[in-house]
Amino acid sequence: MSASPAPWWQQAVVYQIYPRSFLDTNGDGVGDLEGIRRKLDHLEWLGVDAIWLSPFFKSPMKDFGYDVADYCDVDPLFGNMDDFDRLLNDAHSRGIKVMIDWVPNHSSDQHPWFQESKASRDNAKADWYIWHDADPDDPTRPPNNWRCAFTNGPAWDWCDERQQWYLHLFLPEQPDLNWRNPEVVEAMHGTLRFWLDNGVDGFRMDVIHGILKQPGFPDMPEGSDAHFTPEVRYDIEGTIDAVRDLRRLLDSYPGDRAMVGEVYILSTERVAEFYGQNDALHMAFNFPPLYAPWNAEKWRKRIDRVVEELDPKDAWPTWVLSNHDNPRHRTRYGSEARARAAAVLLLTLRGTPFLYAGEELGLEDAVIPSDRVVDPGGRDGCRAPIPWTSESDHGWGQDDNWLPWPANADTHNAEVARHDDGSVLHLYQRILAARRGSAALRLGSFEYLDAPEGVLAYVRASGDDRRLVLVNFTDDEIACEVADSWRVEVSSVRGPDGAGYEGTLGANEAVILHP
Ligand code: NOJ
Ligand code: CA
Repeated sequence: MSASPAPWWQQAVVYQIYPRSFLDTNGDGVGDLEGIRRKLDHLEWLGVDAIWLSPFFKSPMKDFGYDVADYCDVDPLFGNMDDFDRLLNDAHSRGIKVMIDWVPNHSSDQHPWFQESKASRDNAKADWYIWHDADPDDPTRPPNNWRCAFTNGPAWDWCDERQQWYLHLFLPEQPDLNWRNPEVVEAMHGTLRFWLDNGVDGFRMDVIHGILKQPGFPDMPEGSDAHFTPEVRYDIEGTIDAVRDLRRLLDSYPGDRAMVGEVYILSTERVAEFYGQNDALHMAFNFPPLYAPWNAEKWRKRIDRVVEELDPKDAWPTWVLSNHDNPRHRTRYGSEARARAAAVLLLTLRGTPFLYAGEELGLEDAVIPSDRVVDPGGRDGCRAPIPWTSESDHGWGQDDNWLPWPANADTHNAEVARHDDGSVLHLYQRILAARRGSAALRLGSFEYLDAPEGVLAYVRASGDDRRLVLVNFTDDEIACEVADSWRVEVSSVRGPDGAGYEGTLGANEAVILHP
């Protein structure tokens, strides 16, 4: 046991907010920073320790903020720096940490850096993005066969001014920055310092696994996918070195500033590399479980990968079920009972859980009519506005906002949920309270117990503090005896009755038991 207490980010439950969708306060149908501030009561009552804000920086919004035109300013759509300071201070005064989203792989094509870079081949920022000459034999052929996200078109676009190609792993309006240029590195470090000086507690780092590309830009083998074989496209070692520099920068500030990397690689072994020797990322997202179906064996395999790849390195795991890029788990798993049990699972595994705003209400994705689709990647359903009240405007001031309401907004809005102690919301609140009260759940060891098929059973322990967790992944009631007598601290299907555990789990029931 180490003597120094675990840092906050290892004990935290982090709550992701997509600012466009949280709450609108000025009648334009798009959420804003002041809307987030007004809902801090909800977050404090729920019991989250930190929030992560998806991008609110100046942006033409081609990728809804992941195309940044100024890393150090707030887009007027969301408010201004005073609004940010107020939000940060109010969150801090409630003991809630604030992490923000940092998008280092690419900027917007409207960023002044790109505007300058594209103007000529010999300007001061000529080498800030990734430019390539045309093939003299076939000037219409891009420099390699890489495809970009969303459209799956070529990852290169032609620039008339420079008569050269530039790389964009995402939209053409999101040119990739050249991390081999020390001036780019320095400028991007400057953007981190700006927000650290402003008092943020950490960063979620977008597409951090790919900021350095393989020199020579080799073709991808036919049929390969960079999510599974990232080493073809990315210089992984170089990228991890660049992340070590970021770690040193964060560590030079007081107060355990932390970063969680969006390492969008679907191999846990590779993801583990991004922790370095605990001198690179503090945490990396662990996406394979997000794609696991509601099945005990599949989940067990995912958990085993983490135990085998991360634990030996002392790398702190993360868990996530939903975010702004994927259908919500309530929708994927197809029933509220499963979504409730999944919440118990997510919040009792060893590692830092990330919640996505609205999952605590049990929200489903919105059904988006074709004429309301706005995202180039088709991810609108999970980005629907959060319904706060029962009225038809759900507390937003108008019915009609940038996206339609989630399918179950009338029954699962925050107002209805708050008045019903059997709601999904109260379940999350109870689990979070259980975590607060138990070092075993926050930081303890993890060990499986034998369990019937379709059930996962594990013990979390820290000193004398112990919790036993049982998760029934099946649609049937299952007898699941446990040694000793335990009491039910939280059940995903029953209210807070604190009864003794009687050896049977209901269909899709998950329980936290205490001695
Ligand atoms: C990952 C983000 O989560 C996603 O929303 C975005 O479109 C891409 N990175 C590009 O920045
Ligand atoms: Ca607004």
